[in-house]
Formats: sequence, C-alpha cells, structure tokens
Amino acid sequence: MDHFLYRDGALHAEDVPVADIAASVGTPFYCYSTATLQRHFRLFDEALAPLDHLVCFAVKSNSNQAILKTLAAMGAGMDVVSGGEYARAKAAGVPGERIVFSGVGKTAAEMRAALVGGIRQFNVESEPEMEVLNGIATALGVIAPVAIRINPDVDARTHAKIATGRSENKFGIPIARAREVYARAAALPGLGVVGIDVHIGSQLTELEPFEAAYRKVADLTLVLRADGHDIRRLDLGGGLGIPYTRSNQAPPLPSDYGDLIRRTVGDLGCEIEIEPGRLISGNAGIMVSSVIYVKHGEGRDFLIIDGAMNDLIRPSMYDAHHDIVPVREPLAGVAQHPFDIVGPICESGDTFARGRQMPPLEAGDLVAFRSAGAYGAVMSSEYNTRPLIPEVLVNGDQFAVIRARPGFDEIIARDNIPVWLA
Ligand code: LLP
Repeated sequence: MDHFLYRDGALHAEDVPVADIAASVGTPFYCYSTATLQRHFRLFDEALAPLDHLVCFAVKSNSNQAILKTLAAMGAGMDVVSGGEYARAKAAGVPGERIVFSGVGKTAAEMRAALVGGIRQFNVESEPEMEVLNGIATALGVIAPVAIRINPDVDARTHAKIATGRSENKFGIPIARAREVYARAAALPGLGVVGIDVHIGSQLTELEPFEAAYRKVADLTLVLRADGHDIRRLDLGGGLGIPYTRSNQAPPLPSDYGDLIRRTVGDLGCEIEIEPGRLISGNAGIMVSSVIYVKHGEGRDFLIIDGAMNDLIRPSMYDAHHDIVPVREPLAGVAQHPFDIVGPICESGDTFARGRQMPPLEAGDLVAFRSAGAYGAVMSSEYNTRPLIPEVLVNGDQFAVIRARPGFDEIIARDNIPVWLA
C-alpha cells in the first residue's frame, strides 16, 4: 500500500495534488511520500519485533538526506556500500553503531574513515579485504567488528543482473570455505568476529530462496560456534521484492518474511539485522513527467515525454516494468490506446514501455511512474546534459524540494579548462 491515490479526479501524494508540485518545481521530478516510507519501515520493524533486531535501510536504494533522516528518526540503521554512503548516513545523524558497511571492493581509505568515524560492523567479502582491514585496524589500535559474507549458492530466481547468491557471482565467500576463513579472521589481531552475513539478491518474489539461504546460515552458526567463534549477530541482507504492477500476484509480505526468519534462525539467540532497500523506498516514490509530443508513427504511436533513461534507467537496464498512470484520473470507461512511451534521448534504448495501454493524452499532460522511489534518483545521470531532476518529499499536506534541479551554469562550471586551452 502506498499514499499515491486519486482523489477528486487528480493523483495526490498524501494530501498534495501532484499537479501542484509539478506547477511549482517543473517536470520531470521525483516525489516521495513520508507516510509510505514510515509505514514500510514499521512493517519490517514489527515483523522482527520479538527478536533483538536492527533494520538497516539499504542506502543505495535512495540516499537523499531527507529520506535517511526520516528513517533514522524511527530508529533505522543504515547499510552502506561506499565511503560516500557512509558520509551520507553520518551527515543524516545516524550513529556509527547503527551503520553496517557492505560491498565487495571497499578501499583502504573507506575502511579507515569508517573505523575512525564509528561503525557497527564490516561485512567482509574476501580474504584480501580481511588482511587490509586488519592492517588498518591494527595501525589505529582498534578492533574492527566483522561479519563474513558467505555465498550460500542459492538461486534467488530474480533478474540475472541483481542475483548475487550463486557460486558464479562475485559476492561473498563460498560456504564450503567458511570454517577456514573464519579461522583466519580469528587469528588476525585487528579483527573481532561478530557474526555471519548473507545477501542473495534483489527483487525476490518468493520466500523459498531466502529459506534455503537462512537454513544454511543457521547450520553454519552452530558449526562456527563449535569451532569457538562468538557468532552473536546474523545479517540476513535485503532483497524482498515489491509489486511493480497492480495486477501481478503480490510478493510475500514483510510479516511472512519475519515469520520465516523466526522459523529458520530465531532460536539461535542471535541479534538479527536485515538490509531492505526497495521494499522501504520503492513504492514510496513516483517520477512525474510531462508529455512533450504525441507522435503518430507507422503502425505505432509514441508518447514522447520529458523524462528519459538518464532519469530512470531501470526499464532500459533491466527491462523493468513501471506502471505509468496519468496524473488526471481517466474517466471511467474511456477507451485506451497502445503507446510506446519514450524519452527524448537519441537512443532506441530510451524507451520506458512498448504498446502500453493509456487513455487519451495530449502535450502538456502529466504522467506518473509508480514504484520509482528505489534505484531511481540514485541511478540517474546527466547524460545529454540533462540536469539531475529534483526530488520532492511530501508529508501530509506539505511538500519540500529535497534536492533542487541544478542550472546549466552549475553543471558547466564543474568542468575545468586546462592551461593549454585557456
Ligand atoms: N544488501 C546488499 C548487500 C545489497 O547488495 C542490496 C542490493 C541490498 C541489501 C538491498 O536490496 P533490496 O532490498 O533493495 O532489494 N539497481 C537494481 C537493484 C540492485 C540491488 C543491489 N543490491 C534495480 O534497480 O533493480
């Protein structure tokens, strides 16, 4: 459930007409709902409630300071994957004890910054990373808390580009080598083993792959404890999928996911961490765009809109589906017509949907892409020197621009002219 609904014939974000925001900030833009973010965070928090737990929001899905602050105020931890995301979490006021640092290629500088600034745990993904972290921690005279990410060799049954839990993927340490690698970690004076980490992929629409992975984690917990390791935390990753279409069979609910966690790892006495991104931010955001032209082609009609692949890359990158709805509610029973919905960029890949049934639309009409709050703004670029589009946060009947659209001058001023061209 989200808070983008038609009211009196007009799409609203909570209590604000989306058209009012468009009139104020111009299109295209991203628009997020505070109530939806809060609701989704609470669903996870409540799903794990009986267990000692921390829900760490995957910052990669939406890293705007206002979004992080909204969640941090509810007690969220953060899962970061770069020095930049770590800095964003800190800037949003999240204490180091609530930040976990994931990622397969952390640099020495990133690890040092996190050790100095405070960190709950590093999710370590390789032996070389372990050695480097040990060196930095030893030099600083501290002990780095680590969980080792194991690769359980489980098929997440999701899009190949976002599956991470098979042995052929670059992520984690093969579960078969876990004992050996934990023994090495325990021997390094700068590391303190605190737990096990696993993440098998994103946009999972079934619970079975999670179940298979978590059962392996449970077994491994007992084995590692018998080896003398103090396994007191399990980081179970993110990945629970969201409904991208209204018609589709919905993915499992956070409450079902919570039941599964309790069933598989709930009696081990471990503190449970999870790292959801998409389920918290995805359906809490829309991207709003205007129709520039309605173009009648040979056997196809095109809606050419002012949003493009640089603003929302998911359709061209993963063939992802986003529901696209008119901001003015279509009259009941109005005839629909198939359109290819495309952006202005000079690539055929700049296509959001083919043959999508839409009610009659004209130049200047507004459309909203649903489920665009995760991996939307964060993956955008300035390709074609199209400015990064603004982000707006709604809260009840208020809205605020939480990232402004840069002017062309600002964009151009970031380039430098070398002396020989001056
Ligand atoms: N934890 C780790 C270690 C991850 O790699 C990810 C996502 C998450 C948590 C959060 O997963 P979520 O709950 O959001 O599914 N750009 C792609 C998604 C990439 C996901 C990468 N890792 C997309 O637009 O679908």
